[in-house]
Amino acid sequence: MGRKPTPEPRLSRRGAVGAAAGLAFAGAAAAATGGTARAAERRGGARRFEGRSVLITGGTSGIGRAAAEAFAREGARVAFCGRRERLGRAVERTIRENGGEASYLRADVRDAEQVRSFVDRAVSRYGGPDIALNNAGVQRPFTDLHEVTVEEWDDVAGTNVRGVFLAMKYQIPPMRAAGGGVILVTGSSNQFATRNGLGSYTAAKNGVTGLVQAAALENAAHGIRVVAIAPGMTDTEMLDAHRPAGLSDEEWARTKAAFAEQGVAGLKRMAEPEEIAAAALALASDAFSFQTGTSVPVDGGQLAAL
Ligand SMILES: NC(=O)c1ccc[n+]([C@@H]2O[C@H](COP(=O)([O-])OP(=O)(O)OC[C@H]3O[C@@H](n4cnc5c(N)ncnc54)[C@H](OP(=O)(O)O)[C@@H]3O)[C@@H](O)[C@H]2O)c1
Repeated sequence: MGRKPTPEPRLSRRGAVGAAAGLAFAGAAAAATGGTARAAERRGGARRFEGRSVLITGGTSGIGRAAAEAFAREGARVAFCGRRERLGRAVERTIRENGGEASYLRADVRDAEQVRSFVDRAVSRYGGPDIALNNAGVQRPFTDLHEVTVEEWDDVAGTNVRGVFLAMKYQIPPMRAAGGGVILVTGSSNQFATRNGLGSYTAAKNGVTGLVQAAALENAAHGIRVVAIAPGMTDTEMLDAHRPAGLSDEEWARTKAAFAEQGVAGLKRMAEPEEIAAAALALASDAFSFQTGTSVPVDGGQLAAL
């Protein structure tokens, strides 16, 4: 059975003015459902990853940044990459100021040599790797497939699926040599369904499904679990790809809240990046020792709707 064809929610100025009227911003919704208390609980004293070596691609902002901070808070030594050096240094500094251990190592995941060097430098600094979170990703403005340029296709596929392949290619040998570990990939609810204008992104994220299945089977005997976390709409810089020109920050916040109200059937709000990071840490933990080869939606009920 297909999903009921409903008008696609679009991020537009009209949406901001119309659908957003009377809506609270997502942060307020999170607080109303106890999000603040749970966030405090998540920051609690657990040290599940004491001394573990963690590699993260795309740790300069959003979900990757939240995961780097959370792993470090729980005792891990975190090496992360991204292209924006100023942000990378800032994340590294914040983690160290809070008593954690982290290193920003610049790398572009589309470039095989840079990924190999990132993994090599991270392993020689922190050992392992015990855990990898292959998270770097990009989205482009909504564009029908036949209008996607070849350059845009190559960028989306090169980052979201080739970048994951390259990361796995260089992580798996040292992880096998170290006796095992966990490889997580940040997939998307678009592994399961799409919306108009997201064809290249959906195709790339479906590629993640296959990579996770193949890597899980090939590495189970080596003590390596491989799992994708599939977030729904999350309030990060990635959504700025869809920001209409000329919107104020306030209008943009209202537009996103309206989009989430319409598009996330269950909780009717975006996730905070910390909520997705918390799920990633759980999947990386021994609590999920039987989980491998799967893509796990964390989507606020987005995919539950027909
Ligand atoms: N936000 C959502 O609604 C949502 C929903 C489902 C899945 N996701 C997935 O979540 C992951 C993280 O995205 P986010 O939402 O946290 O957005 P974000 O804040 O834009 O983070 C994306 C991260 O990927 C990095 N990155 C992008 N291209 C890269 C490249 N070529 N080389 C190295 N790093 C690169 C960025 O760093 P630099 O720019 O510094 O390179 C940044 O750290 C992505 O895989 C995305 O597809 C997001």
